[in-house]
Amino acid sequence: MPDSFLDELRKAFRADALLIGDDIDARYFTDMAGVQVTRPRAVVRPRTTEDVSRLLKLCHRMKVPVTTQGGMTGLVRATMPHNGEIVLSMERMNAIEEVDVSSGVAIVQAGVILQKLQERVEDEGFMFPLDLGARGSCTIGGNISTNAGGNRVIRYGMTRDLVLGLEVVTPDGTVLKGLRKFIKNNTGIDLKQLYIGTEGILGVVTRAALRIFPAPAERQVALCALSSFGDVTSLLKLARLRLGGGLTAFEVMWNEYYRLVIERVPGVASPLPTHHPFYVLFEASGSDAERMRADLEALLEEAVEQGIILDATISTSNASAAAIWRIRDSSVELSRALSPRVGFDISLAIDRMEDFANRIAADLRKFDNEAFSVVYGHLGDGNLHVVVHHADVPDRYTQIQELVYGITGEYDGSISAEHGIGMLKRPYLKLSRTAEEIETMRTLKRALDPHNILNPGRIFAV
Ligand code: LAC
Ligand code: ZN
Repeated sequence: MPDSFLDELRKAFRADALLIGDDIDARYFTDMAGVQVTRPRAVVRPRTTEDVSRLLKLCHRMKVPVTTQGGMTGLVRATMPHNGEIVLSMERMNAIEEVDVSSGVAIVQAGVILQKLQERVEDEGFMFPLDLGARGSCTIGGNISTNAGGNRVIRYGMTRDLVLGLEVVTPDGTVLKGLRKFIKNNTGIDLKQLYIGTEGILGVVTRAALRIFPAPAERQVALCALSSFGDVTSLLKLARLRLGGGLTAFEVMWNEYYRLVIERVPGVASPLPTHHPFYVLFEASGSDAERMRADLEALLEEAVEQGIILDATISTSNASAAAIWRIRDSSVELSRALSPRVGFDISLAIDRMEDFANRIAADLRKFDNEAFSVVYGHLGDGNLHVVVHHADVPDRYTQIQELVYGITGEYDGSISAEHGIGMLKRPYLKLSRTAEEIETMRTLKRALDPHNILNPGRIFAV
């Protein structure tokens, strides 16, 4: 970057909005996995959309690349500053501006922490349904730019389904004022979709209008032990049939995940023995607590009678529900404890999941006798996460990526269900998208960011 750029930054921003040199904390260049890169030369922390616009105008004019950061909880290295990039941190744009319960809309700045929004709308008897393990640190802007999925997609969809309108700053500093509050709006190209799930390469989301829903009066969580994957899918069918729209999560954990999370992550306890082949966590939500509890008990009884489940426990309080969720939400901590490891986020047809997981385990054994895989995921969404622990030898990381992505291709899966591509999966994008599709993505990027200053190189090289 030109040396004069820092002078221009100092002129354009108040001192408290700028971090330079040693003032830059390691969290701006360290990711979820604990990987650290070189300290960036500057971090800019705007408070307003106008600040973001001023910054991008300057970067566009001086051709300085920028990476935009939310809570830094992403898993594909999309927001780690590359050499020469400055960081745009959205952390101070953290206002919840409006909670409009009559329209079912919340207006927030992009740096709002997900859990803060969940809690704020709960105070009004509402819910913002997006939920994931990183809720306490991830931001709405990050959720939008990655089209985050998480635990309740089965009922409420991905982040894309929760966004009504966006305010976005384009790479040349133009502000697109699309903060509309309505669901229906067929007035030409739906521009907000360009910025949802595109990992910050086309614009910076500054504010969002989000859908909120009346909170269910009651939420209950069941944890079940099962002996086969066939039983897991039978339980999903039964839960869908008996609970209908009241089924708000359905998560599967293979034995290795369940056992290791209990053994290795502090503060996670098991209400069931840890030797069963499969575990399912499902959540039911509804407005009538007694009826729901009765429905849930009837469902579990039916499942026991049909021989689908071996054992089960139902939450009896918010605290016990949270304790059960902790088992499933500790996936990132477990993954860290399994280093050296490679993480995967695969979409595939539910009826192929068992073979897929077995095939990975078998192929791993053939070339790395330290390697093993841990499998879990959002079964109801057709989304599995696989963490492979491997021997600490050169090239093994890449070999395992190639192995698992090769198998994913054979099983007609997608290499990313919800975590995105970033830098980590960029070499494999072509396995899930055609050359023509990737070229069309490049055409969009070139048109909207001609100097290639926003998150350059993420997803694909221009
Ligand atoms: C999960 C994260 C890793 O589902 O996506 O636990
Ligand atoms: Zn997930």
